Amino acid sequence: MEPFSAYLIEKGSDGKVAGRMTRLSPGQLDAGEVTLKVHYSSINYKDALAATGTGNIIRRFPCVGGIDMAGVVVESQDERFHAGDPVICTSFDIGVSHHGGYAEYARVPARWVVPLPRGLDLFESMAIGTAGFTAALGIVRMEQNGLAPDRGPVVVTGATGGVGTLAIDMLASLGYHVVALTGKASEADALRSLGAAEVRLRSEIDFGKVRALEAGTWAGAVDNVGGAVLHWLLATMKQAGTVASIGNAGSHKLESTVYPFILRGVSLLGIDSGYMGFPTRQIVWDRLATDLKPPHLASVSHRIAFADLPAAFDAYIQGRAKGRTVVAIGA
Ligand SMILES: NC(=O)c1ccc[n+]([C@@H]2O[C@H](COP(=O)([O-])OP(=O)(O)OC[C@H]3O[C@@H](n4cnc5c(N)ncnc54)[C@H](OP(=O)(O)O)[C@@H]3O)[C@@H](O)[C@H]2O)c1
Repeated sequence: MEPFSAYLIEKGSDGKVAGRMTRLSPGQLDAGEVTLKVHYSSINYKDALAATGTGNIIRRFPCVGGIDMAGVVVESQDERFHAGDPVICTSFDIGVSHHGGYAEYARVPARWVVPLPRGLDLFESMAIGTAGFTAALGIVRMEQNGLAPDRGPVVVTGATGGVGTLAIDMLASLGYHVVALTGKASEADALRSLGAAEVRLRSEIDFGKVRALEAGTWAGAVDNVGGAVLHWLLATMKQAGTVASIGNAGSHKLESTVYPFILRGVSLLGIDSGYMGFPTRQIVWDRLATDLKPPHLASVSHRIAFADLPAAFDAYIQGRAKGRTVVAIGA
């Protein structure tokens, strides 16, 4: 194996975190049983926080960024994987304390590797990526908690982001009445064409005046925003409604009351895709290749070249990102 290109995130002596394109030698790969040639990675909000040092994401410097990767096995010490197998690796310590997907080669523990399910190609698996996996995990957990299309509307916040876009697409295709909550009025038509039956703007809601309980409206909620938006969701859930708490794009804080829980039986499900193990991880990927495969995956994802990666992070930090960005690493 020759030296290869990688996007390495480092911490300077001044404490500043920054990423740069560089070359790594095969000897710099991390430990693991499976070595793969990375074909595609993707950009998630967390990747942008890590690469720009905006969030305290990286736990080991230097670290190749990219919490997602899909590629082909070149070498395996684990009998479940063989050279030539197409695989997906997301989550765990990838791109945080173990070199991630923004490199032409990666080596990872076999227990982090998912065989590419029939029904997805490598590009599609990264168009889904951690964002889509997390949206699907949220939907699966809400279904297990009793959510079904006949229970009432499901609201998705941070609607134009990666998780939001794919959650809307999946929920609409499952027959749910989906309401998109967004900060971007200009994206209302795009959200409707994705399957949102209604689009609501954050600017139309006075989050500062939300009472402990408001009119019960939602049977389910996928929340990517947190803070006052999550408080509003809790206050507006129907009896026995379910909220999947996924993100903190607005705030990591939650100031609310126990009334939705004790007077309406509302469930607040914590969704952590990072350390969700097997068999659930495989079950969710299998569903992403079948009934949860987002019908609009091609139109909500766009491909960028590896060389264009460093310039792509700001849109995520500024909340301007739309849909899913797939990074062509070695495809
Ligand atoms: N729990 C997990 O395992 C897990 C996994 C993946 C992601 N996440 C988290 O889920 C969230 C969404 O991830 P993503 O990849 O979809 O991110 P993304 O693509 O950057 O989208 C986030 C969306 O949130 C909205 N938003 C951004 N800034 C906001 C603000 N200040 N106030 C309110 N809304 C704001 C925007 O949508 P609108 O303009 O349409 O509202 C934005 O497009 C992030 O917080 C991420 O860290 C968690």
